[in-house]
Amino acid sequence: MHTNVVHISELNKSFGVKQVLFDLSLQVGEGEMVALIGSSGSGKSTLLRHLPGLISGDGARRTGEENSVGQDLSRASLAGMARAPSLSSSHSPPHLAPLSFLSRPFSSPAASPAIPSYASTASRVEVLGRSIQCGGRLSRNVRQHRSGIGYIFQQFNLVGRMSVIGNVLLGSLGRIPRWRGVCGFFSAAERRQAFEALERVGMAKYAWRRASTLSGGQQQRVAIARALTQRAKIILADEPVASLDPESARKVMDLLAEINAQDKTTVLVSLHQVEYARRYCPRTIALKEGRIHYDGPTHVLSDMRLAGIYGAEISTIDRQRNDDADNAIDEISLKCHSGITYEFLRAASSF
Ligand SMILES: Nc1ncnc2c1ncn2[C@@H]1O[C@H](COP(=O)(O)OP(=O)(O)O)[C@@H](O)[C@H]1O
Ligand SMILES: [Mg+2]
Repeated sequence: MHTNVVHISELNKSFGVKQVLFDLSLQVGEGEMVALIGSSGSGKSTLLRHLPGLISGDGARRTGEENSVGQDLSRASLAGMARAPSLSSSHSPPHLAPLSFLSRPFSSPAASPAIPSYASTASRVEVLGRSIQCGGRLSRNVRQHRSGIGYIFQQFNLVGRMSVIGNVLLGSLGRIPRWRGVCGFFSAAERRQAFEALERVGMAKYAWRRASTLSGGQQQRVAIARALTQRAKIILADEPVASLDPESARKVMDLLAEINAQDKTTVLVSLHQVEYARRYCPRTIALKEGRIHYDGPTHVLSDMRLAGIYGAEISTIDRQRNDDADNAIDEISLKCHSGITYEFLRAASSF
């Protein structure tokens, strides 16, 4: 059994009036390499950005909303409490609903204890055993907690005017006094580690080049070297190969897989290309319109299920498939939808 490195429960996220993540709960165990797939706009980046606390989830759930199995959780959780009117109520226009919510007194004495406990479990995110956020509030020590979390962006996010080695050294900022980072004072050992990380990703010969002069694939490998220098225990990679040619993409995915296998670093990687999930990630989480549509072994993802995830985008999906595996395990994967946990699937697949 893996120790959980990521623990998300009941994560909801809205931008203004538009809710984009709905009641997401999931765990990722230590040393797993997990693909996060889903069509454009399904919420992959939004979900990933919650893990280091780059954004915060919604606070307590709004009443009247349903979870993924259609159960009105607000009703269950708020039992015994004066019911606030639904924000989506047809009786009041949405722009007035928050005001009516505030003006309504909680008249039932049984209501008071229910409020804090309900709010405190909403949108909870823990990474590496530390609370990142809860109830829409970032943890006070979130910056400290981020030091073990490597983040790789689709658009590389290197400082273009800085040398490659300078960018990699930024990975050690979480471990050194702030003044040293500001002044650029790095010890010989820190510089050596940065060079070793560059060697590992095959970029040592570019150490003194300006980062902006590198190709996309090279920049992404430097970003991985920065995560290595950071000694990240988990790497979150948001579509790291989406802007790369196939050869560069393969090198980047090979590196992530190697770091996962050799260092036991947990990797959660969002991918638009399902073939990379199939080749590199034993487990896949699929998002559809902000909800978890599938969470289980990648090798049982059938074309039919992918069609359900991607809809019209199915034509872009790699269609290499193993019919036997699809059929044999289809029953198990269907059960996954009805709430059986991934741990169960993992145990079942080892029989
Ligand atoms: N900062 C933002 N402000 C408003 N809407 C946003 C913001 N970020 C993302 N969204 C919306 O959230 C939804 C999910 O987006 P995103 O997480 O980027 O999806 P994906 O990464 O799967 O393509 C989209 O509808 C997008 O328009
Ligand atoms: Mg995205």
